Amino acid sequence: MNDRATFVRGFRGSAPYIHTHRGRVFVVQFDGDALLEAQFSALVHDMALLHSLGVKLVIVHGFRPQIEDRLKLRGLESRFVDGVRVTGADALDAVVDAAGSVRTEVEALLSMGLANSPMHGAGVRVASGNFVTARPMGIRDGVDFAFTGEVRRVDTEAIERRLGDGSIVLVSALGYSPSGEVFNMRAEDVATEIAVELKAQKLLMLRTGEWIESTSGALARQLTLSDARQALGQRPPSHNGDDNVREFLVHAVRACVNGVARTHLLDYRVDGVLLLELFTRDGVGTMVSAEAYDTTRRATVEDIGGILELIEPLEERGALVRRSRDKIETAIQDFLVLERDGAIIACTAIHPFPDDGVAELACLAVDDTYRMGGRGDFLLGEAQKEARAGGIERLFVLTTQATHWFKERGFEDANIGELPIQRRELYNYERGSKVLIKKL
Ligand SMILES: CC(C)(COP(=O)(O)OP(=O)(O)OC[C@H]1O[C@@H](n2cnc3c(N)ncnc32)[C@H](O)[C@@H]1OP(=O)(O)O)[C@@H](O)C(=O)NCCC(=O)NCCS
Repeated sequence: MNDRATFVRGFRGSAPYIHTHRGRVFVVQFDGDALLEAQFSALVHDMALLHSLGVKLVIVHGFRPQIEDRLKLRGLESRFVDGVRVTGADALDAVVDAAGSVRTEVEALLSMGLANSPMHGAGVRVASGNFVTARPMGIRDGVDFAFTGEVRRVDTEAIERRLGDGSIVLVSALGYSPSGEVFNMRAEDVATEIAVELKAQKLLMLRTGEWIESTSGALARQLTLSDARQALGQRPPSHNGDDNVREFLVHAVRACVNGVARTHLLDYRVDGVLLLELFTRDGVGTMVSAEAYDTTRRATVEDIGGILELIEPLEERGALVRRSRDKIETAIQDFLVLERDGAIIACTAIHPFPDDGVAELACLAVDDTYRMGGRGDFLLGEAQKEARAGGIERLFVLTTQATHWFKERGFEDANIGELPIQRRELYNYERGSKVLIKKL
């Protein structure tokens, strides 16, 4: 494909996602190590781009390496217990200094607007503040965590007001206590609490290091809540808290259980990682979602475009008979679609002939990318259920290229004479489709 075709295809492909994400709340979290990457400014500019597309963005940043540098300069040692920093009174100054420097850097990058675009210089408004109230972690197993704290309350009203007036909200992993003290918190905890309290659509955690693998050894793209729980059960807690995957799973499960629809684990070193994850069908990271990912439903007229896009390549290959937009529109109530993130990835239609007690299963199609994943089987099962519920006793299908597929699922050879008369009259002898019937 040439550059133009790639652009057009990519832009068309991303349009439904732009529509879906508009007005939604996303919480993006990264640690201070992301700032050390050459890609960092591009990453922040992509966040500005998301904002310009109408996403309500809360950015939560950590600052671990920046604290380390400052402690070293002051001749102080870092101390961690079970992966959590112990922030003594002498280290607090370094923590506050580190938080300030990271926040300033992010604010400066956001102030540039969208780099290399006509929106360069159209600065994005950023709101920071005392959005998170902290409480001390206190003394645990004899260790006084001093100025290390945890989230006590999130001022959702203040954050929502800022988001509502078109600002990006930028939150450091620092919290303030009602007594005026400052506490150092873990950025992951702050981000998760904010996402939960705001009932965010997405929590996006940007990391580097180890990734979650599927059983085949490839990157696991999606996990349901129960998959995530199971994966978590297989990873014992690490004492230095550097198990990237475990950290992610803990927060993803917590977010999911408390109403955040999706939590994503992404590699911040990948150029454009946020755009690839949010505006392409399969993304590039691992996503944990509260509900099963693919959903089946009856089609509506709004799905006609998606159905046509799915079946056109199959019509060209002769696997499906050609159908005009009008024809699909007239029978749209007969279609079932399988949807993933707003895109139609499979469909089928059940055209009933009630007088004969039969129905035609037609236009069963699965997008090439999603073949061999049991989706054809699943849709056939759903179609059979619907047909049975509608009093249909037999299901017939006309197929040129999937005869064996249907036979393996209980369909048997039949002849044209067994079709309802109306259907017989429309039979296209040139296509020479095989007629198969299944008793329900
Ligand atoms: C037929 C179709 C719907 C199957 O969808 P799918 O989601 O890939 O299928 P499933 O994952 O449920 O099943 C995969 C199995 O079917 C087999 N299979 C897939 N297409 C087949 C075909 N055309 N003929 C025979 N077997 C086929 C696969 O080899 C696999 O078998 P295995 O598990 O033994 O390895 C899909 O291939 C498609 O869209 N085909 C083009 C349209 C078409 O012909 N529709 C039927 C006319 S209405």
